[in-house]
Amino acid sequence: MKSIILAGGSGTRLWPLSREQYPKQFLKFGESSLFQGTVLRCLEISEISEIFVVTNDSQKFFVWGQIQELGYELPEKNILIEPEGKNTLPAICFGMKEIERRFGRSTVGIFSSDHVLDISAMETIADAESLASDHLVTFGIAPASPNTGYGYIMPAESLGVGQKVSEFREKPDANAARKYINEGCLWNSGMFLFDTEIFFNELNNHSSDIYKSFEKTNDISSIYKEVPNISVDYGIMEKSDKVAVVRLDHKWSDLGNFSAIYDEFEKDPEGNVVQDCEYLPLDSSNNLIHSKTGKLVSLIDVNDMVVVDTPDALLVCPKESSQKVKDVVSELKSRD
Ligand code: GDD
Ligand code: MG
Repeated sequence: MKSIILAGGSGTRLWPLSREQYPKQFLKFGESSLFQGTVLRCLEISEISEIFVVTNDSQKFFVWGQIQELGYELPEKNILIEPEGKNTLPAICFGMKEIERRFGRSTVGIFSSDHVLDISAMETIADAESLASDHLVTFGIAPASPNTGYGYIMPAESLGVGQKVSEFREKPDANAARKYINEGCLWNSGMFLFDTEIFFNELNNHSSDIYKSFEKTNDISSIYKEVPNISVDYGIMEKSDKVAVVRLDHKWSDLGNFSAIYDEFEKDPEGNVVQDCEYLPLDSSNNLIHSKTGKLVSLIDVNDMVVVDTPDALLVCPKESSQKVKDVVSELKSRD
């Protein structure tokens, strides 16, 4: 099976750790980054020569370097450089075209590189290959809350492996998300299994402008000049009636904000998560402390806070306000 890793996004919810030039997928939490975790998972179903990474010029050195750190050599032609970010649908088309050109009709796993997932999930993903011969396969996660940052998948009749999907709804509002959860929807994990032929047929049916752009020429600069900025979720998955879902009952987290990072990582006896720094606590508990500065961090009578220190920016906020971090980024951008 072939794999495409999407690694061109720029995170805003983990500022000041993630930046436009240093997005979430390349950040190291402990030993490795989310991108490196994704590569290791892909190696369970693909040879290194069958893995394609779609990224941009400024991030290609992270791609290259972080794969090398894992002890693998990704062929240079497998790093696909987009002229600009146009969201996940053009990025997936870029990868699918390249794979079709090099290997002919293929089944391809599409992987976001910005979440953590237990590696044992790859067995379930590999087992879904037969389903991809006539469906666009999604992988569903049992929802933990009516999070509006995810896609919602409504499973219907059984297809043996997996289930038919009666509705796919990307990023509903909070009321709709609650309703979807009550009705038994799953979260979209951001991973897919696509057969090149089924994928391009469905692209032609539902986003024919993008299909035509990719058919007309192989010149990626001219293609990217004309394709719209749209995610695969809005451009195909919401519209297609060929969607199937396979449930993943594995540990999965999008690490979408500092509170999710706190939940994910090991805690000291006081419930503090301390990353990359020396820490002297005094009657402080349940905090996330992350410092890239080499400074000693001390907290006194401080509970349930996030403290993230980097050479040029410091963030301090209650854990429960972590979702507001993206507002700081918007404010900073508006000042530029
Ligand atoms: N190459 C490239 N180019 N990669 C991109 C681009 C781009 O323009 N935009 C995003 N990506 C990468 C991101 O780096 C990430 O690994 C992945 O594609 C998904 O993009 P996000 O921007 O993080 O999507 P999302 O989190 O809002 O939503 C998606 O993931 C959710 C699960 O985490 C959707 O598929 C949702 O339905 C899903 O629930
Ligand atoms: Mg994401």
